[in-house]
Amino acid sequence: MSYYFIFSVICLLFARGGFTAAVGYPSGPVDLKAALSKPSMGWTSPNILSFPGQQSFINATERWTVFDPPTYSASVTVRNEADVVKAVKIARDLKIPFLATGGRHGYGTTLGNLKNGISIDLSLLKTVTIDKHASTMTIGGGVRFRDMVDPLFAAGFQIQTGTCSCPGMVGVTIGAGIGRLQGLYGLLSDALISATVVTASGKVLQVSETSNSDLFWGIRGAGANFGVITSATYKVQPIINNGIFTSIDMVFTAAQNVSYFNTLASMVNGNGTFPAKLAAITNVLYNTTSNQTEIITNWAYAGPREEALRVMAPILAVQPVFTNLTDVSWKNLNTETSFGFDAIICEPLGIRSIYSAALRTVSSNTAISVFAKLVDFYAKYPEGRGNTISLESFPPQKVREIPDSTSAYPWRQTITYLLIELSWEAGSSVGDASNALGLELRKDFAATSGYPDLTVYVNYAHGDEKLEQIYSAEKLPRLAALKKTWDPENLFAFNNPLPTHYP
Ligand SMILES: Cc1cc2nc3c(=O)[nH]c(=O)nc-3n(C[C@H](O)[C@H](O)[C@H](O)COP(=O)(O)OP(=O)(O)OC[C@H]3O[C@@H](n4cnc5c(N)ncnc54)[C@H](O)[C@@H]3O)c2cc1C
Ligand SMILES: *[C@@H]1O[C@H](CO)[C@@H](O)[C@H](O)[C@H]1NC(C)=O
Ligand SMILES: *[C@@H]1O[C@H](CO)[C@@H](O)[C@H](O)[C@H]1NC(C)=O
Ligand SMILES: *[C@@H]1O[C@H](CO)[C@@H](O)[C@H](O)[C@H]1NC(C)=O
Ligand SMILES: *[C@@H]1O[C@H](CO)[C@@H](O)[C@H](O)[C@H]1NC(C)=O
Ligand SMILES: *[C@@H]1O[C@H](CO)[C@@H](O)[C@H](O)[C@H]1NC(C)=O
Ligand SMILES: *[C@@H]1O[C@H](CO)[C@@H](O)[C@H](O)[C@H]1NC(C)=O
Repeated sequence: MSYYFIFSVICLLFARGGFTAAVGYPSGPVDLKAALSKPSMGWTSPNILSFPGQQSFINATERWTVFDPPTYSASVTVRNEADVVKAVKIARDLKIPFLATGGRHGYGTTLGNLKNGISIDLSLLKTVTIDKHASTMTIGGGVRFRDMVDPLFAAGFQIQTGTCSCPGMVGVTIGAGIGRLQGLYGLLSDALISATVVTASGKVLQVSETSNSDLFWGIRGAGANFGVITSATYKVQPIINNGIFTSIDMVFTAAQNVSYFNTLASMVNGNGTFPAKLAAITNVLYNTTSNQTEIITNWAYAGPREEALRVMAPILAVQPVFTNLTDVSWKNLNTETSFGFDAIICEPLGIRSIYSAALRTVSSNTAISVFAKLVDFYAKYPEGRGNTISLESFPPQKVREIPDSTSAYPWRQTITYLLIELSWEAGSSVGDASNALGLELRKDFAATSGYPDLTVYVNYAHGDEKLEQIYSAEKLPRLAALKKTWDPENLFAFNNPLPTHYP
């Protein structure tokens, strides 16, 4: 039995009833509101606290998915680092579990192990400062991608991001940060230069290649485990091609599934045919207007149109039934590509259960058989037609060039990330069948992924995976040692938590 499984069981046992504490703490009732509201707390602003029933509490804690979410008895909307230190210390002293939140887009089910905790809401840590001379950007711990794209672009720079506008930039970074520009610039975590971290003991640390470098290694791949990052500094890149990308939205019909997946696989797996400037996102979904399963894709290229069309010729030769070829500015890359789906995808409060696998190679046979299974599922379960799968084919060049030993992120060889996104209406009974489908399709892809076992990017993890499948057996001993040093009592316990000993 893995440590991970044991942890969940213990957590569930402790999670019953009123204010109970994280693993290892004795439980007992506490008047949390009174304790947090004491004038001696010295919060930066009197409006910092909110409690269930208040609109400000809803605003501070509302999440992207309501599938297995954490629950809170209080929220502290911090205004600065001093507030973070106070919030961590009071939670620790009161023995009440807590979660620091950025964009609130984390969806791993381990977050749901937090019951009646304290939310440390970082959303007001929103500063964006650009140093043009040094080509760096420093952001507050609550900045979302959409908060920084305009000022950064206006200053003449761009940076690798995720593919949606809404997640927290630091939250994405500390898992790895995968996205369209990784072929040129590496992972978002590869662009991280330094961070300010409030540790479990309430210490404020500067973390970089030259200061607490071990922790700097760990926060780039397992960063939800060690502390609260109040600010982060990144290397930024000069704008290329005047900041103009070539984007093509395409629709392929169900009848084209075999030719689409064969072409995608040959481009993605081939040597040098999937250039560093190209990114392809493939979604399989049910179109409720046409009542057909469709392949809806966005292919984006960091360069001019002629070059893009040359590179994308093989996929265009499959003859999409709909094509929208546009020039998109880097700052609008997330919002104006993919049929403008970003606005819908970013809507909070959906029921969303996600399964994932990292692929070293894309098996077209697997993609084709999964496609057929989805078609069958949609026919059998009309309420399950909100379930989709995505294949995010991001270029690997720069990610692979950076040595594996650089950071804790273990899956640099990945060429495509599978996401199985299960979503249904509240009250529907399709949830169990959907989750069973998710497990089955993940298993299918894992079997032909080119990795020896199921392999999962931590920020895409469902929460049922083994530690090794998320962090890798190679990285776990060093990560466990770091956990023991910086968070021995496991206060940062709710996002695929690391053990303090491994093996
Ligand atoms: C619509 C959508 C699109 C996505 N697209 C991408 C993508 O393109 N690329 C990619 O790599 N990932 C992507 N993800 C996954 C994303 O990386 C994770 O969901 C990530 O955890 C989101 O961070 P957050 O701050 O929004 O979430 P939260 O739920 O606020 O936080 C998630 C975890 O990170 C921790 N955390 C957040 N901020 C801080 C901080 N400042 N200091 C310390 N810990 C912190 C939290 O404690 C928690 O454990 C996407 C997710 C969604 C829902
Ligand atoms: C909650 O958020 C909404 C939408 O952003 C805003 O209009 C409202 O003023 C907020 N309310 C409180 C109490 O913070
Ligand atoms: C997928 O493509 C194959 C080969 O063209 C075809 O036989 C099959 O019917 C397609 N699937 C669907 C659901 O259209
Ligand atoms: C790709 O090229 C590398 C190095 O040139 C080689 O080791 C590898 O086997 C090639 N892979 C394929 C699928 O051709
Ligand atoms: C799609 O299905 C809906 C409901 O089942 C039906 O009302 C509609 O006419 C169908 N549309 C087409 C184009 O067949
Ligand atoms: C869904 O089908 C309708 C009718 O064929 C079409 O107009 C629409 O563009 C499709 N939607 C998407 C997202 O492909
Ligand atoms: C094509 O994409 C652009 C940019 O997102 C959008 O403004 C336009 O409406 C789209 N055109 C069609 C026909 O969908």
